[in-house]
Amino acid sequence: MRTLIRHADLVLPTGIRRADLLIENDRILAIDPPVGVATDEVVDATGFHLLPGVIDDQVHFRDPGLTHKEDLHTGSLACAKGGVTTFLEMPNTKPTTTSVTALHDKLALAATKSVVNYGFYIGATPQNVAELALAERTPGIKIFIGSSTGDLLVDQQSALERIFAETTLPICAHCEDEATITANKARLGTLHDVRQHSQLRDHLCARIATQRAIDLAKRYNHRFHVLHVSTADELPLLSDPRGLITAEVCPHHLLFHVGDYDRLGSLIQMNPSIKTAADNAALWQALLDGTIQVIATDHAPHTLEEKRQSYPQSPSGLPAVENSLALMLDRVHQGLCTLEQVVRWMSDAPARVWDMVGKGRIAEGYDADLVLVDLNKKQTIRNTEQLTKCGWSPWNGVELTGWPVRTWVMGQTVFQDGRVATAHRGQEVQYDHSRGGYWRTDSGPG
Ligand code: DOR
Repeated sequence: MRTLIRHADLVLPTGIRRADLLIENDRILAIDPPVGVATDEVVDATGFHLLPGVIDDQVHFRDPGLTHKEDLHTGSLACAKGGVTTFLEMPNTKPTTTSVTALHDKLALAATKSVVNYGFYIGATPQNVAELALAERTPGIKIFIGSSTGDLLVDQQSALERIFAETTLPICAHCEDEATITANKARLGTLHDVRQHSQLRDHLCARIATQRAIDLAKRYNHRFHVLHVSTADELPLLSDPRGLITAEVCPHHLLFHVGDYDRLGSLIQMNPSIKTAADNAALWQALLDGTIQVIATDHAPHTLEEKRQSYPQSPSGLPAVENSLALMLDRVHQGLCTLEQVVRWMSDAPARVWDMVGKGRIAEGYDADLVLVDLNKKQTIRNTEQLTKCGWSPWNGVELTGWPVRTWVMGQTVFQDGRVATAHRGQEVQYDHSRGGYWRTDSGPG
């Protein structure tokens, strides 16, 4: 099966260039193929930009065990619509993904349910270092250094030391300091207002945990990815001449601040918490200057009924995979960044951080995971149109300029004309951890 995409502006590692692109089966066969090449389908993409599909390295799809919120099928439908062709999913499901068996069970489940490509982290517990050391077929190890949804937590120093010392897979962590949360709770007294969430999980709480994890990574010479950086205070900690540390930021930490609780209440209750407008600006600057390499969503759906409980019963988490690319394309439209930067943050960088084979760029021989975008399309996010099972978005009512219009996963169209190909199944991501991560792989072609 050959598909020829004609006249698109391709976002290549070397820049944007108008060219034709030929897909054969699941791979990119050629850029600028010879005129008259035999094809089964020709797509006229005049006026559109073609990007490598978004790779979201932090989602919670709740499957197994919490599937009233989301499941691997509905989460993947939301991905396809949003231009996300690959996701890496977190281990705080029920049961947790904290053994090799549970990891393989999840991979088998995704093979039957996911429309896009998938991978799963193995979660750390204070006792499972032997499982972590054995695990393969995974991007890496996830540690909750601070508690969040579910009961995964490793905050004892001795247990953390063992994980960094006795494993070789890349590690990522949720960095909020449990002792600081406990102390803040005692100071705040009875919690009753969602605004208190940003005082409970404050700047200090994020900074202490990020510092602690980075110290461990440096001491044990272990690759480490800081998930969802939320404060300006953490940014100086990320500087890393040895090439061990990478970091990411989420759209909600770039776009929401504490003043938004008045409007959105617990819909923007997140862990790490939403911080200030000054933090929003500093995090954006950190993306622009390369201090932070990756944008991921931390897509963490809960039902509206659950979210509407009074604080602190309301759970932390919000959905975002469906709109993350459009939120960033809108920033391109506003002149705040370039399309090439968006591709670097959302596709090239996550592929390199997690040593993915064949992903993250448009180049010959790479997987045909692609998203066609219309930079001029205006569309309003509406709860009623969301494909995520939870059926809402914190950006409900927001009009954005720049939207995905068609998505291919491994050469097959999975989203077009507003509809998702629900019967398509994505593939398990392949990793080559001998590549050594983001700082040891280039962003050029090849
Ligand atoms: O707010 C959050 N919700 N942060 C996390 O780290 C976990 C997530 C969830 O699973 O609900």
